[in-house]
Parts: sequence; structure tokens; C-alpha cells
Amino acid sequence: MNHNENLLEVTKLRKYFPIKGVKGPGVQAVQDVSFAIKKGETLGLVGESGCGKTTLGRTVLRLYEPTGGKIVYDGKVLFDNPLNPDGTPVGKAQSVNMLPYRRKMQIIFQDPSASLDPRMTVGEIIGEAIDIHKLAASKKDRDDRIKELLSRVGLNTEHANRYPHEFSGGQQQRVGIARALAVKPEFIVCDEPISALDVSIQSQVVNMLEDMQEEMGLTYLFIAHDLSVVRHISNRIGVMYLGSMVELGESYELNRHPIHPYTQTLLSAVPVPDPQLSRTRKRIVLEGDIPSPMNPPSGCRFHTRCPYATEKCSQVVPEFKEHEPGHWAACHLLDK
Ligand SMILES: Nc1ncnc2c1ncn2[C@@H]1O[C@H](COP(=O)(O)OP(=O)(O)OP(=O)(O)O)[C@@H](O)[C@H]1O
Ligand code: SF4
Ligand SMILES: [Mg+2]
Repeated sequence: MNHNENLLEVTKLRKYFPIKGVKGPGVQAVQDVSFAIKKGETLGLVGESGCGKTTLGRTVLRLYEPTGGKIVYDGKVLFDNPLNPDGTPVGKAQSVNMLPYRRKMQIIFQDPSASLDPRMTVGEIIGEAIDIHKLAASKKDRDDRIKELLSRVGLNTEHANRYPHEFSGGQQQRVGIARALAVKPEFIVCDEPISALDVSIQSQVVNMLEDMQEEMGLTYLFIAHDLSVVRHISNRIGVMYLGSMVELGESYELNRHPIHPYTQTLLSAVPVPDPQLSRTRKRIVLEGDIPSPMNPPSGCRFHTRCPYATEKCSQVVPEFKEHEPGHWAACHLLDK
């Protein structure tokens, strides 16, 4: 296998947020997550609110500094800090200057209005990204590029002189997309790019992102709350629960044959168009609330809500393993 096929490789990535005045590790938002994304692929990432999707996306870009683990981008180690089982570092952490990667790796933010500076015009917002990375040869070149980007995302070129508050949520998200594209990126974390938008325009924005991916050969990490949003656009899907990646597989396979109990409960809540599948798929309702990532359950983090939990589940962390070709999960039930 050509090793360079993977654009991004993440190994046991961990992100904790220490809390001032409180002893201990703090919020354990991302717990030893491993996955890879191939060039040109869309990896969907789903899970309930607070499970760590945004934190994972931002940590991969090193917008948050990782607590531990390894990130390799296009064959280059961006960060490496392997941890012992007790969480102490094995050796000295290694990291690179991110500036050249800031251009290649972009993010479209979850909340379009909060991610645009209200004091800057849309033209200035897009132009700033072009300036930072010195991507325009002249003022005319820069202005042309801003216009081209605005029309590419379905906005009027005259909109360059307006301020973010003059736009609807959907238009603001288009500005956010134009800003990300302005620097000719390779990889984009799309953090719930449509959740804040009206249902009527969600599919337009998704279609636009898909077209751009094809045109520009982009690679996406596409975050969503809901499996129904990502299942059509993702080649593969990862499912998170309370900071951990619990299952990862090819999109169709994961939807047809989820092997982790948490994914099974998530899918049981999604209406399925296939009547045969719908009959066999029992709706499973999870008991209890999501525990706090400040004090996550021992062993399998899902054990307090899992209908199949055993004694072992509360004591031993299940390993994230490939159970069928390309189909990964972390559950003791699957080890037998
Ligand atoms: N900067 C921060 N400082 C402290 N805790 C944080 C910080 N950012 C996130 N958290 C906590 O980390 C956990 C994961 O949050 P995150 O925003 O990554 O979840 P999410 O899956 O993106 O949720 P949503 O679907 O609501 O966007 C939550 O408990 C959150 O409160
Ligand atoms: S390891 Fe145990 S608690 Fe965790 S998902 Fe599997 S059966 Fe449930
Ligand atoms: Mg989020």
C-alpha cells in the first residue's frame, strides 16, 4: 500500500482542558482517538453534543495544543508526544512550526456569526487570509480573487463592502467558506457547517461543499450531530462518545451493520427508508444522562448507559481494533 495515500494520520490523540484551581486532569474532552483520512476523502464525524467533535477537529489543526498523541500530515509529523498508560509523557514532545500548514489546513466554523469579525467587511475578511499567506501578486490580483471567491460561494461581488451583520446565517457561512478557500487549502475541517442554518438552505451548502471538493481535490473532516447529515457525503464515518472514538467504518457498512452498541442506539433513532431494515431495527432508548468528561466512567466510557455492560466493561478500557477489514470499534463484546 502506498503510505502517502493517507493525508492525515492521527494516533491516540488526547486533549484535556485543565481547570484553574481544580486538581486533576480537568475536562477530558478527547481521549486517545486514532484515525486516518485519505487524500480526497470525506470522513464524517458524529456524536452527541459535548462528545468532543469540535475539540478533536481543532486539536488536529493544532488550534488547540494536544495533550498527547501524534499527528502526521502528508507524511510530516506535526506533533508527537506519546504517553505512558498513566498519562505521563514517554519522552520529549516534538512539534513543528505550523505556519506553512495553517494555509493547507483550514476550518469552517460551527457558528458562522461568531467566527466573522464584525468590524471587518467581507472583502477584508477574505483579503486578510490572502495577505497572511501572500497569495496575491498585486492589489488587482487580490480584488479579483475576492470577487471570484464570492461568486464561487454564491454571493454577489458587491457584497465585498458589506459587514457580516448585514447577512443571513446562510450567507455568513458562505463567507466563512470563501475565507477557508481563499488560501487554496488541501484539507478542511467542516465543523457542523450547516447546523446553524435553515433547513431550506442546508442542502445547498452541502452540495456546494461537495462540488468544491471535486473541483479542488479537497479532503474533509466533516463534523455533524446526526448520522443522517453525513451518511450521504462521507466515504467513511467515525462515531464519538464522551471523548472516545467508538466505531469507524465505511459509510454504507456502518449504517447497515453497526457493531458498537452506541452506534446501534444512535442508528435506531434515525428513520430508515428501507422497510425491511426498519422492521428488524429495534428502537433502543439510552437510559441516563451523558456523564461529565471531567469525571468520565472507568473502563469503557459507555458502560454506565450500555445495555450489554458487564463487570469487565467498568474496569478495562476496550481497545479500538479492526474487527472486519476497514471496520473498527472499541467494545469487549466484539473480542470473543
Ligand atoms: N476551551 C475549553 N475549555 C474547557 N472545556 C472545554 C473547552 N472546549 C470544550 N470544552 C469541553 O470539552 C467537551 C467537548 O466539547 P466540544 O465542543 O468539543 O463538543 P462537541 O462534540 O463539538 O459538541 P457540540 O455538538 O455541541 O458542538 C465539553 O465537555 C466541553 O464543555
Ligand atoms: S465495552 Fe461493554 S460497556 Fe462498552 S460498549 Fe462494549 S459492551 Fe457496552
Ligand atoms: Mg462542536
